[in-house]
Amino acid sequence: MNHIQHVVVPGTFDPVTLGHIDVISRARHLFPQVTVAVAESRTKRGVGTAFTLEERVDMLRQALDEQGVSSIGGIRVLPFTGLLVDFCRELGAGGVVKGLRAMTDFEYELQQADLNAHLAPDIESVFVMSNPGYGYVSSSIVRELASLGSDVSTLVPPCVAIKLREHFTAE
Ligand code: PNS
Repeated sequence: MNHIQHVVVPGTFDPVTLGHIDVISRARHLFPQVTVAVAESRTKRGVGTAFTLEERVDMLRQALDEQGVSSIGGIRVLPFTGLLVDFCRELGAGGVVKGLRAMTDFEYELQQADLNAHLAPDIESVFVMSNPGYGYVSSSIVRELASLGSDVSTLVPPCVAIKLREHFTAE
């Protein structure tokens, strides 16, 4: 049996938070090759994203550089559309890594993992427990705080805090 060499860390990353960066670096700790897959998610919950796909990919690349994670090597960021399992197959990735915060994440993540296992039984779902320090951090909380003018510099990488300020002052 072959060991998994390459995993995908998927998400909408609207925008990337320090919680995501923690999950990505831990995925790289576990597996030699990590592709961070940024979903187009045009129809997520019927609403568009705050940032375009290109902006979300750029912020992730910049944030991984800024946080010193890129320098580990073996990590890349790519956009994707369509089914996650198809994208994994295209890349030859054998697993998907996601972070779990509270029990509230569990049901949603289990449903996605079950669906992905049904579509592609050969692709493993792996969960890492998020750093307790980031348990309450989510992209939607960050967007809400930033839209209300609150400081989010402890929740997101500096390049993202700047982008959020630009985004919400331009609105
Ligand atoms: O960060 P998110 O929003 O929780 O990420 C969700 C994401 C992008 C991983 C999920 O919506 C996804 O995999 N979308 C691609 C379409 C797909 O494969 N859907 C079936 C599995 S849910």
